Amino acid sequence: MARLDARNWLDLASMMGLLCLVASILAGHGVAGQRVKVEAEVLSYPGQTVNLRCAFTDATGIQLTMVTWIYEPKEGDRINIAVFHPKFAPNYPDSPMKGRVSFSPSTPELASPSIQISEVRMTDEGRYICEYATYPIGNEQGITYLIMLAKPQNSASIVTVEAGTKPVVVARCESVDGLPASQISWVTTANGNGTSVTKDGKDNTVTMISEYVMVPTAADNGKDISCVVNHRTQVKAESFPLKLAVQYPPQVTIEGYDNNWYMGRTNVVLTCQASSNPIPISVLWKTMSGVMPDTVQITDNKLKVLKVDEAVNTTFVCEVKNRIGTTRDQITANVREPTVNPSNAGVVAGAVIGSLLALLLVAALIAVLVTRSRRQQQGYRANGGSDMKTRMFGGGKKASKNGTGGGAGPGGVGGGNNNGPIYVYNESSSHQALGEKNNHHQPLTTPTAQDILLSNELDDAERRKFDELEEEERYDNFTGGAPILQLRPPNDQDDIIGDYMDDDMESQRDGSVISRTAVYV
Ligand SMILES: *[C@@H]1O[C@H](CO)[C@@H](O)[C@H](O)[C@H]1NC(C)=O
Ligand SMILES: *[C@@H]1O[C@H](CO)[C@@H](O)[C@H](O)[C@H]1NC(C)=O
Repeated sequence: MARLDARNWLDLASMMGLLCLVASILAGHGVAGQRVKVEAEVLSYPGQTVNLRCAFTDATGIQLTMVTWIYEPKEGDRINIAVFHPKFAPNYPDSPMKGRVSFSPSTPELASPSIQISEVRMTDEGRYICEYATYPIGNEQGITYLIMLAKPQNSASIVTVEAGTKPVVVARCESVDGLPASQISWVTTANGNGTSVTKDGKDNTVTMISEYVMVPTAADNGKDISCVVNHRTQVKAESFPLKLAVQYPPQVTIEGYDNNWYMGRTNVVLTCQASSNPIPISVLWKTMSGVMPDTVQITDNKLKVLKVDEAVNTTFVCEVKNRIGTTRDQITANVREPTVNPSNAGVVAGAVIGSLLALLLVAALIAVLVTRSRRQQQGYRANGGSDMKTRMFGGGKKASKNGTGGGAGPGGVGGGNNNGPIYVYNESSSHQALGEKNNHHQPLTTPTAQDILLSNELDDAERRKFDELEEEERYDNFTGGAPILQLRPPNDQDDIIGDYMDDDMESQRDGSVISRTAVYV
């Protein structure tokens, strides 16, 4: 018989297909060999009981005399472990299995002389031959391979490393004393490779060690990495989830500087953000000059400037230290003068004076228009118009957009509403009217400073004008209610249908109309 050395045996054990082929060749002494039926292969773990079955099929015309079970170890001589003759009690010669091997059932029949071995050991691995002595064809046998599997002890661990530029082992995984050898793989998003090596384990088992090798960076710290061990004795893969541990010097940034530190600004805060592994030993704020201004308060990683002045017009440095190293970041604060500067003030002053001059001009113009408008209105009344006297000053959309009639707005500087309303004067006191304006008024566009100044000035001019008119109009047959200055958004006009609606006429709430020509000069 061919004898297998240990190495060949391991190879064969892991290649069962080939092994079976070899077995059939070895067993193929003749056609008769096929009559002894055995299992080609039996797997077991240490400590278990294995059954090795054997049967002689189709014994027609053949005299079965006795059966011998022979053990052939991986190394060493074959040895009889169990003998059965129908005329005698089963016998178990001296062997490594003596005391653990028995026929099953204990009083077998020649046709099925199965045995069992209890408390199997790794060293029980080998070939078990069920050999019949027969007449007239001679000995017949069947061979079973007992393959001992060893459940490996699996473990995994992280290797803490420092960030660097060379590949190093960052994780290790072991599958100790397994048979056959385990397969180890790695699951991670980190960029590296696992490399496995095998070592001899005890009792011909194999220890598999896999190391994960990569170039560690700060960004890899904390990344998930799992070692996955597959073994024939395991129902499913055993997984060891780990996290990479990469140490690196602090990464520092100063946050909170908005490039708007003007003189007198209060409570601005700079924050020194640092990420590091391990955690920082110290966070230190400094200035380039070496002197920390009095107006600065430092709490942990925050630097608070109570009030911005020339003293903080400097470069601030934040220095963070951990066991691996020291890193700093810096910002240069650029302190600005207070917001208003002399050149701007000059522009404003110029604008104000210019506006006032323009106002005088416009006021004069308006005075002329008002007079004209009044004359025309008196003309309408004469033609059967309303009793109510209506005055329109400045006025509609066009007027305010063009800016020529900017005087329409009420209110002084900062007085809010001032732009482009239509307001109708109903025999009112203009002083009273000023108070009412804001209640009704809807601005059409955002006013400019000039609009505001203009309107204020205009109000005064018009107020004077109205006072004069009031005097005159006392004599008119006016039947209006309480004197008010009505302000009405332009869209109100759309609701009004007047007899005088035409291109040249503007209708009013009270039904009267005035000439647009008079308004939009
Ligand atoms: C991993 O293996 C690939 C290909 O086998 C190789 O290109 C790469 O450089 C290896 N990486 C490391 C970190 O060894
Ligand atoms: C701050 O320093 C810069 C240059 O160092 C200088 O131009 C600027 O005038 C200084 N600002 C104040 C408010 O002193």
